[in-house]
Amino acid sequence: MKKILDCIADAIKPAFAACGYEESYGRVTLSNRPDLCEYQCNGAMAAAKAYKKKPIDIANDVVEKLAGNPVFSQVMAVMPGFINLRISEDYLADHMNAMEKEPRFGLEQQGHGETIIVDYGGANVAKPLHVGHLRSAIIGESIKRMGRFLGYHMIGDVHLGDWGLQMGLIIEELRDRKPDLVYFDETYSGEYPKEPPFTIGELEDIYPAASAKSKEDEAFKARAQEATLKLQSGYEPFRAVWRHIMNVSLADLKKNYANLGVEFDLWKGESDAQKYIPGLIKDLEDRGLAYESQGALVVDIAKETDSKELPPCIIRKSDGAALYATSDLGTIIEREKEYAPSKYIYITDKRQELHFIQVFRVAKKAGYVKEDTPMAHLMFGTMNGKDGKPFKTREGGVMRLENLVAEINDAVYERIMENRTVSDEEARKTAAIIGLAALKYGDLSNQASKDYVFDMERFISFEGNTGPYILYTIVRIKSILAKYRENGGSTADSARILGAVSEEEKNLMLQLARYHEVMETGFAETAPHKICQFIYELSDVFNKFYNSTMILKEEDKDRQASYIRLITLTRGVLETCIDLLGFEAPERM
Ligand code: ARG
Repeated sequence: MKKILDCIADAIKPAFAACGYEESYGRVTLSNRPDLCEYQCNGAMAAAKAYKKKPIDIANDVVEKLAGNPVFSQVMAVMPGFINLRISEDYLADHMNAMEKEPRFGLEQQGHGETIIVDYGGANVAKPLHVGHLRSAIIGESIKRMGRFLGYHMIGDVHLGDWGLQMGLIIEELRDRKPDLVYFDETYSGEYPKEPPFTIGELEDIYPAASAKSKEDEAFKARAQEATLKLQSGYEPFRAVWRHIMNVSLADLKKNYANLGVEFDLWKGESDAQKYIPGLIKDLEDRGLAYESQGALVVDIAKETDSKELPPCIIRKSDGAALYATSDLGTIIEREKEYAPSKYIYITDKRQELHFIQVFRVAKKAGYVKEDTPMAHLMFGTMNGKDGKPFKTREGGVMRLENLVAEINDAVYERIMENRTVSDEEARKTAAIIGLAALKYGDLSNQASKDYVFDMERFISFEGNTGPYILYTIVRIKSILAKYRENGGSTADSARILGAVSEEEKNLMLQLARYHEVMETGFAETAPHKICQFIYELSDVFNKFYNSTMILKEEDKDRQASYIRLITLTRGVLETCIDLLGFEAPERM
């Protein structure tokens, strides 16, 4: 269905035309003076230049033509030439009734199955997931869901870091710990064991130990580098260890992501790109795009329009080891071949800005991706502690994701148990649902590119701009609806949402009417924070309506049924939005 702003513009345009002005001046926006009006049209100001008239005269002409128009309850021309609008209660109620009937509350499908690749998560195999990966997972999941809701074929790919030095480090550390394993016996020629030579617990210990060792022990580091190269060039015993690392680590990663409500369509990684790399390098060389520079093979990416000098993209280093950019280019070749996406969205922290500029430019320069296929890098800022520095554990270490989640859940659990009205089991379950909402909303409610402070006390609060506040509002609506049904109420099919009788009720409808616009711009700008802001305001106007209105005691049954339908619509919109943000509401809290 049409967005409310377009509906209103449709009512104004004929008035401009009837006065002899171009009807496109009848554009309408939300009012920036909500104390004076709900919507406004600034077209008279723009038309003034074209028609060499005073804006106020044009505004007056148009306003006169709008007299008696059923869309409006008030139309006013004000100096210097604004047209201030209030929409009529009946017209707004009709808009609500239409929303209620339509799938997705009337949100038009923008996509028609076009494929969009969302590259997010980006976990590194065998390294613990830490809070740095959290933002990518949370933001990416939301963008993917938003696009899907609008009709795009979204493919989420975790793009694992599964081909780097960490593998060599693990192999050499494993050799030091268990030198008798067959993988290290160069004379061994039998089959390699099916059982992994470590548990996930051991693996989690091996990588940090190896990483620490490599910082002090040059010889160990050299061994790890060599092992990495051997693995990458296909040395079978190390490939066998690598497969074990992958299996053990992936099972754990999948569990962790599932706990976060994050689901990937593809579990591909850097290793999957390797088979494209020799061909890629040859192609770039053959076509004269890549050349030798100080022992490395590079592609120039600088453009005249650049404001700062951008270094060339390194495709191959002198030692021949796989490079991050080359893996990304190989991945693009595979994605083009298998999915031919109409758009790419990558989600990582800001520090990877140059990397993606280089990769995108090479991909386009070489024609691997069509010039007009958008390649977007959504960069996010750092999650800081209250001290303003990157978030750490109390001991100053890197916080592991699962510990962070557990900490939030415990804090929510304690809060629930303060009023102890539910069983311990239910409290735990509810705490996990609220905890996830607190964490995700705490992140998503900030513009992604900004740094933000992880403030657990604030995030888990039931008041203010928080996830739990949104859930609390939904739960409140659910409980009113349950009581209404308990009292024998039902919403007959003939019941409709009636014109608002209070300012609070109208404000609730006005906010609901913004939904379509928010969904569209939220996705177009890859900005989940716009959805957060919308539902925060929606919760606020709902709660004001709730506080000022006796819904369950209302004696006029039609009026009451109308209230019930309106709050049901509110609940539906809120639930839809939190689903797009990647969390859900409990039954009670
Ligand atoms: N594994 C990388 C990291 O931890 C993130 C991967 C992002 N995606 C990509 N296609 N490069 O930094």
